[in-house]
Amino acid sequence: MELQEKIDELRRRAQATPAIGEPAIRNRLLEEVRRLFQDLAKLPKEQKGEFGKRLNALKAEVEELSTRAAGERQVAEVRFEDTLPGTPRELGRRHPIYRAWDEIARVFLKLGFEVEYGPEIETEENNFQSLNIPLEHPSRDAFDTFYVRAPHLLRSHTSPVQIRAMRRRRPPFRIIAPGKVFRPDDADASHLPSFHQVEGLMVGEDVSFAQLKGVLLLFAREMFGPDTRVRFRPSFFPFTEPSAEVDISCFLCGAKGCPACKGSGWMEILGSGMVHPKVFEAVGYDPEKVTGFAFGMGVERICMLRHNVRDIRWFVENNFRFLRQF
Ligand code: PHE
Repeated sequence: MELQEKIDELRRRAQATPAIGEPAIRNRLLEEVRRLFQDLAKLPKEQKGEFGKRLNALKAEVEELSTRAAGERQVAEVRFEDTLPGTPRELGRRHPIYRAWDEIARVFLKLGFEVEYGPEIETEENNFQSLNIPLEHPSRDAFDTFYVRAPHLLRSHTSPVQIRAMRRRRPPFRIIAPGKVFRPDDADASHLPSFHQVEGLMVGEDVSFAQLKGVLLLFAREMFGPDTRVRFRPSFFPFTEPSAEVDISCFLCGAKGCPACKGSGWMEILGSGMVHPKVFEAVGYDPEKVTGFAFGMGVERICMLRHNVRDIRWFVENNFRFLRQF
């Protein structure tokens, strides 16, 4: 190839190179220009002057192109559109279950209850035997699982905190114990293998069933509205006697019957009863001297009733479109 052709070719390439401002690329092109100067040496004398000028012009052009490109690159790197609004960040918020937990606790704190916490890993003794649930008792089946290492298991209810509280304190006292519990249940619209409860316990010299009713009526009205009524249905728990399941009048239809209360006008919110003498004996209390009431409610259940949530699994799916509504 003639030197003139090489010069033209290199100039075309330099002009068409977008990244000519990159030091590596610019140096490679300048290296090629330098090699053309070697060709110049081989030219006949009378052509040297003319081609020398042309090569110097090419070199200057490559340098000029590359400084201009480097400058443009710098400008491109720092330029941004500062008049556009920024990308807003989603703010986190408290999970509806913990909001319900807080609201439940707030009502009982107003009634003079203190908050007590127990461990999620419990002893068999506290979870069962001390609560008058003997080894072979059938009600244990629904609870009996998730052993960590015998005799320790994930607690199946918050009732063992009753045992811990009674051992730690002297009557009279009243506590609530919120926390996580674990059951061998498959997840469906109304079950999760892990959910939350709030336990309540009041112990003293003449704590009565009438007081239990009064406390729970106040609670129901604070949580579900001032017109709420409560209904106690006889039931059974090994650690309370007598025992009662507590319903509230449906706040959506005023107990007339609607889909939310399945047409009955009532919704079940918790289990309760008078502390069984065997439980007092297990913690060294004299059942002739002290009496007490206890109750236990599911936090998810209360939250579902209040907000008409139809599937308990929605609480644990991390779906922002669901969670954002609370
Ligand atoms: N521990 C019971 C349950 O999980 C609820 C309960 C608590 C009932 C206290 C009575 C008294 O089902």
